[in-house]
Amino acid sequence: MSDVSTQCTLGIVKPDAVASGRTGAIVAHLQQAGFTLRAARLVRLTPAQAARFYEVHAGRPFYNDLVAFMTSGPCLPMVLERADAVAEMRKTIGATDPAEAAPGTIRKLFAESKSRNAIHASDSAENAAREVAFFFSESELAGLWGG
Ligand code: CMP
Repeated sequence: MSDVSTQCTLGIVKPDAVASGRTGAIVAHLQQAGFTLRAARLVRLTPAQAARFYEVHAGRPFYNDLVAFMTSGPCLPMVLERADAVAEMRKTIGATDPAEAAPGTIRKLFAESKSRNAIHASDSAENAAREVAFFFSESELAGLWGG
């Protein structure tokens, strides 16, 4: 599905940004930053799905609130492709806390707080593969692009 020099990562426009009508602006920002949108679907996560997606954070003090927030409304998981996608996406979205995010990053522009922070992105190539597969099947991705 991709050129050998490119990589895919998973992003999620989170429920706060979907509810406030920022989905289009965030996708446009990512495209302007050089990402190609390979797949996207508006979904409402169940508590079990959100708990599983964020299982690496299970036991942390914010975990229950994170699961509640991620199930509070629709979100938009998406597969994004470009050279060095995982690292470039982390740069493009900025620090977890918008107060610490660099100017011009998505979280600086669109996030309300550390917990309602507009967007998620995979933090490693290994997690990108796991997270893409969490939302999108191989055959679905291939079917979209005729691969
Ligand atoms: P995300 O990139 O989706 O990965 C885990 C999420 O947990 C993170 O963004 C934040 O939205 C959320 N979170 C809430 N509180 C904290 C915290 N104190 N430290 C790290 N992440 C937090």
